[in-house]
Amino acid sequence: MEEKKRNILLSEDQIKTEIQRVGKTITEDYADKKLYVLSLLRGSFIFAADLVRAVEVPAKIGFMTTSSYGHSETSSGTVKIVNDVPDDITGYDVLIVDDIVDSGITMDFVKRHVESLGAKSVKTCVLLDKPSRRTVDIKPDYCCFTIEDVFVVGYGLNYGDYYRNVPYVFNWEA
Ligand code: IMP
Ligand code: MG
Repeated sequence: MEEKKRNILLSEDQIKTEIQRVGKTITEDYADKKLYVLSLLRGSFIFAADLVRAVEVPAKIGFMTTSSYGHSETSSGTVKIVNDVPDDITGYDVLIVDDIVDSGITMDFVKRHVESLGAKSVKTCVLLDKPSRRTVDIKPDYCCFTIEDVFVVGYGLNYGDYYRNVPYVFNWEA
């Protein structure tokens, strides 16, 4: 298949630099806490893998999978738990990690869910924030990049389940 020209929005180097910065902040903020990193699959697996290696406090790491019905490029409003938090997180300071906050529906749902499981504190960390698309009032506590309303792929983000393994973030030229 012939592909349209790729427009690289975030290079590997830019991503690396930002993750180091955010990792340092998390290291400071969680120095005396009981950190549990909850990575949301599948979109955040690459980001989470790089992020936890930039965080220098002891951390447990778990994965959760949600799905949202409907259109592949946007969240539908109904979030379903496909695989739940695999550990007892009572008393833990949970950091939810996702690839992107778009409408905010997924993060808002997961945050409430984790709170209901007895976490001591719950914060959120994303690679990308698209605030212009928000329909739910939620702001990530840690964010690497704020982007415009464009659909992007790479570095874990997919289109039709492909492009997750591209090491940079891009979109296609119109
Ligand atoms: P939200 O529930 O609308 O915030 O959507 C979050 C999910 O939608 C993300 O975890 C992604 O899976 C997907 N998503 C939103 N925007 C993009 C994008 O630009 N590229 C790829 N996936 C996206
Ligand atoms: Mg996702």
